Amino acid sequence: MQQITVIGAGTMGNGIAHVFAQNGFAVTLVDVSEAQLQKALQTIGKNLDRQVTKGSLEPAQKESTLHNIRTNSSLAAGVATASLVVEAATENIELKKNIFRQLDEHAPKECILATNTSSISITQIAAVTQRPRQVIGMHFMNPVPVMKLVEIINGYATEASVTERIVALSKELCKVPCVVNDYPGFIANRILMPMINEAIYSLYEGVAGVDAIDTVMKLGMAHPMGPLQLADFIGLDVCLSILRVLHDGFGNPKYAPCPLLVNMVTAGKLGAKSGEGFYTYT
Ligand code: CAA
Repeated sequence: MQQITVIGAGTMGNGIAHVFAQNGFAVTLVDVSEAQLQKALQTIGKNLDRQVTKGSLEPAQKESTLHNIRTNSSLAAGVATASLVVEAATENIELKKNIFRQLDEHAPKECILATNTSSISITQIAAVTQRPRQVIGMHFMNPVPVMKLVEIINGYATEASVTERIVALSKELCKVPCVVNDYPGFIANRILMPMINEAIYSLYEGVAGVDAIDTVMKLGMAHPMGPLQLADFIGLDVCLSILRVLHDGFGNPKYAPCPLLVNMVTAGKLGAKSGEGFYTYT
């Protein structure tokens, strides 16, 4: 893999660009918004500073990481010489299909097209391209520079050699790859989201308050964050949308989103990013 292009300069996109660049890859970060690209570079700089302060990175490595990242507001130009594209745009199936049609048109024929989707079907995304065997899920966790996992998702048509290359590449990023198949929620969110939903149901039914629920799971199960704090961190709108994918995909009432979650999202309480969810943020 020579050149990596990351599509989307939001939280996940800048984290993915950061990790590839830190491990010596030439990265092009693409976003339609020039302002978003500049904001992403600033965020990457701050996160690298955090690593330097903690002593896990040398100052010179910070400079070489930033040096490895270019930006481009044109998708066509940004993917023209890519060996791998990792798409990390908003979780919207029509948007992703549209991006993959463009990637298929402009990326070199041998380029692998990966998506960082947390729950949209890889098979559906691959079906809009002429190269479904080269389309795969590469699901990083937030915060990307810290979390060790890459959940690798085989679409129905993904070729074994493509999976092997993405597994090897994930190891080069000092991550731990886990290969799974393309069913709703894959593994990470199929297991995580019902836990978060159950925590919200426990609050909704008055079994316990926010602090008690989170403390039980933090101290009792050694989770770094309680499920309600984690839901705020992920975004309550994202949690709701993933639960709907599980509910629709399996047709099983056990995945029905808690009415409290639905109400909070409707009221614009989306967690940390909106300033309020189960906790308030200043
Ligand atoms: N970039 C670089 N380093 C970062 C960072 C970032 N964005 N954010 C945190 N760090 C580093 C810190 O510098 C610190 O480093 P050291 O270990 O060297 O000291 C370390 O991470 C811990 O950070 P903090 O001390 O600031 O805070 P913390 O101990 O409270 O940890 C946390 C913060 C890592 C986020 C931790 O609370 C945690 O692991 N939470 C759970 C995160 C999680 O579950 N993520 C998955 C969400 S699900 C998802 O992403 C996928 C999906 O599909 C929904």
